[in-house]
Amino acid sequence: MQSAKALDKRKSRAETLLRVENLNVHYRTRRGLVKSVRNVNFELRRRENLAVIGESGSGKTTLGLSLVRLLPRSAEFTANRLEYTGNEQPLDITSCSEETIRQWRWKEVAIVFQAALSAFNPVLRIADQFSDTARAHGIRDKAVIESRALELLELVQLDPKRVLNAYPHELSGGMRQRVLIALALLLEPKVLILDEPTTALDILTQRIVIDLLRKLKEELDLSMIIISHDLSLAAELADRVATMYAGQFVEFGSVNEIFYEPRHPYTQGLISGVPKVQGNMEGLSSIPGSPPDLIDLPPGCKFHERCQYATAICSQKEPTEELIGKNGSEHILSCLRWREINDAAAHH
Ligand SMILES: Nc1ncnc2c1ncn2[C@@H]1O[C@H](COP(=O)(O)OP(=O)(O)O)[C@@H](O)[C@H]1O
Ligand code: SF4
Ligand SMILES: [Mg+2]
Repeated sequence: MQSAKALDKRKSRAETLLRVENLNVHYRTRRGLVKSVRNVNFELRRRENLAVIGESGSGKTTLGLSLVRLLPRSAEFTANRLEYTGNEQPLDITSCSEETIRQWRWKEVAIVFQAALSAFNPVLRIADQFSDTARAHGIRDKAVIESRALELLELVQLDPKRVLNAYPHELSGGMRQRVLIALALLLEPKVLILDEPTTALDILTQRIVIDLLRKLKEELDLSMIIISHDLSLAAELADRVATMYAGQFVEFGSVNEIFYEPRHPYTQGLISGVPKVQGNMEGLSSIPGSPPDLIDLPPGCKFHERCQYATAICSQKEPTEELIGKNGSEHILSCLRWREINDAAAHH
């Protein structure tokens, strides 16, 4: 019989799929080190959707790539912990061999990029893209691959007969995005990372993809990390949301906390930029000024040059992550002055 402690341990493993502690990614360039991801901490739980939102250049894609070790050679990455815990035996993503990570990727954690043509091999029909991916992971039975491809294309609401014989360039952007999602699900991963899954699409097609992701969430035992500068996507699909600025998570909380009680001035700026009518959210540019140079970061809070609440302390002292939620909430914030800011807002 297993001890209660061992069972507990197994359970907690199964409930958390990724553990990330103090993750940093720097790109080596001629001008110097670009500090694209800095001290990122989070856990991804089973069946939860986590959205990472933020302005362009804030480090979202770099973060996504580092989680599956797909960074370019010029990148240096370090972490106190970067661990996949979806299996009995946890996997250290930073230190395991290239072969191990290659087998693990797609099978446990798959990443879906923006549906550009470049995400596909242009000379292969969609059917062959499925068999290539399957074969790379040791599935050689043609009948198995074909029936799985059929099933997945139906799941993403495409006509399999039409799509399987097509070349990537013969499909619309929305169809390509859905094929990429189907391909990513081929090996039944537990985690799907989606990088700007709706960005290149027109509004109607965005709707289709959002509905599809919602359906996948309900039907499959799947966690998602949704990376986007599109807030509507996060608002509709996420359980928890992180806002990213200059490589850091500056605020992290439940979808309600982030959208209805944002505490960080940057998050407040992002949220207030959202137009009231549903549609293409271009609203992120509403925060005046531009992000800092990631090679030569300013001292103190990295947002101070653009923050309407900044005082002298903000350009001297770097805020650290602080748990501000009450009653079990895990609302986390990096701002030196959040109490004053919110007291002042309450007086208004
Ligand atoms: N291969 C690279 N070499 C050097 N800098 C890079 C590279 N890729 C991204 N960056 C820089 O890292 C920062 C974060 O980029 P990225 O992760 O793409 O942000 P986001 O996805 O939020 O737009 C940006 O300043 C970008 O210019
Ligand atoms: S620490 Fe200061 S500059 Fe940074 S977000 Fe808070 S108030 Fe603004
Ligand atoms: Mg990006």
